[in-house]
Amino acid sequence: MEFETILGYLENKTILITGATGFVGKVLVEKILRVQPDVKKLYLLIRASGANSATQRMHNEITGKELFKVLRKECGANFDSFISEKVVALSGDVTFEDLGVKASKLKEEMCNEIQIILNSAAITKLNER
Ligand SMILES: NC(=O)c1ccc[n+]([C@@H]2O[C@H](COP(=O)([O-])OP(=O)(O)OC[C@H]3O[C@@H](n4cnc5c(N)ncnc54)[C@H](OP(=O)(O)O)[C@@H]3O)[C@@H](O)[C@H]2O)c1
Repeated sequence: MEFETILGYLENKTILITGATGFVGKVLVEKILRVQPDVKKLYLLIRASGANSATQRMHNEITGKELFKVLRKECGANFDSFISEKVVALSGDVTFEDLGVKASKLKEEMCNEIQIILNSAAITKLNER
């Protein structure tokens, strides 16, 4: 019953996810797309030098991983179009103002569209300053 409620809640929602290249973040991205393919959009905030390199990191470190094999199988030939329709990789950093997102049009879109923020960006080294 509770799971059904969560699925219903995620339907048609736009979500910002940080830390998506990390251990927890990539599992979260895969799970949302697999159990609720009717989610509207996922923005993934990824540390990168620009939008293209954020997209490259997304393909290499998230959607291209073995973890996505079930979803890849379920989508078949539509996997790539499903990912490009649902997932937007953004270049940014949670320690910067406005999360390091510079383009004003993109910032405006994000402010208007995002309904949920899932923050999994973290430094997990115990000896970090
Ligand atoms: N792993 C577990 O078993 C576990 C269990 C319970 C809770 N947690 C919690 O879940 C969170 C994530 O843990 P994890 O194991 O997934 O860590 P992780 O594998 O080290 O991933 C950390 C993520 O945060 C990103 N990140 C770090 N600094 C950032 C910044 N300044 N701006 C944007 N992104 C940044 C990293 O991006 P880069 O790829 O660019 O470095 C990476 O995607 C932590 O709060 C942790 O305590 C983890």
